[in-house]
Amino acid sequence: MAKTLLLLGGRSDIGLACAHEFAAQGFDIILAARSAEELQTSVKDIEIRHGVKAFAAEFDAEDTAAHCDFYTSLTAKPDVVLYSIGSLGDQKVSENNWSEAEKVISSNYTGAVSIVSIVANDLESRNEGTIIGISSVAGERGRQSNYIYGSAKAGFTTFLAGLRHRLAKTKVNVITVKPGFVETKMTAEMELPKPLTASPERVAKAVYKAYLSRKHTLYSLGIWRQIMFVVRSVPEQIFLKTKL
Ligand SMILES: NC(=O)c1ccc[n+]([C@@H]2O[C@H](COP(=O)([O-])OP(=O)(O)OC[C@H]3O[C@@H](n4cnc5c(N)ncnc54)[C@H](OP(=O)(O)O)[C@@H]3O)[C@@H](O)[C@H]2O)c1
Repeated sequence: MAKTLLLLGGRSDIGLACAHEFAAQGFDIILAARSAEELQTSVKDIEIRHGVKAFAAEFDAEDTAAHCDFYTSLTAKPDVVLYSIGSLGDQKVSENNWSEAEKVISSNYTGAVSIVSIVANDLESRNEGTIIGISSVAGERGRQSNYIYGSAKAGFTTFLAGLRHRLAKTKVNVITVKPGFVETKMTAEMELPKPLTASPERVAKAVYKAYLSRKHTLYSLGIWRQIMFVVRSVPEQIFLKTKL
């Protein structure tokens, strides 16, 4: 029987590229997103291109009260679950406006904790499966330009690390993906340095390889592992003088 990938963030550019990569390997796909009725083109595209089954399901990361029912209602229980939801928000607006900050925190962190905990309990009881969370290098050091987003990603990274520790005695693997820059809707307004920027398709290939090799942490692109080592190593007194 075909395995199933549940993509939380069924419209995310990185997530959709991963869905195609897994579908190309024979996975059935569930795309879960807000306004799921608008996902039919993507559903058909996956089915036609890869000859697998694909479905759409309604999912809002912020509506945590509905997460249990959402997961229970899935007809096929997933083998792989990918959390690819998030919003960058506006750091400056967030500094004075809690509802802007809360949207960033709930899509990147609290909503993720809610649904991934439900998924983890199911996979643990089945003693199988893989959870993949798209976090970010932004969670590795707080910076003035994006610390609301960065702190939510730091929380998600730590949550995934703890979950991996809890599930280490089972067959369930937890993968933390830390992309650097990726060319998607989220970064469309930014000027990204080409050598440090990946395409969603490149990230997706790396994610599928990480799934196969049961990796724990994936930097995409790999150069970001070295960059973040340097960023973490800068002494605070010097770091405070930077404009990052
Ligand atoms: N692009 C980068 O450079 C980069 C770097 C590091 C990490 N990441 C992370 O990668 C993940 C995917 O982002 P992306 O680059 O693929 O950007 P994207 O195409 O903008 O995808 C983000 C998705 O999050 C969804 N979303 C936001 N709030 C939601 C909510 N409350 N409930 C359900 N869905 C919600 C959006 O859904 P709607 O379509 O309904 O708005 C959107 O499809 C995110 O976690 C992001 O933080 C991206």
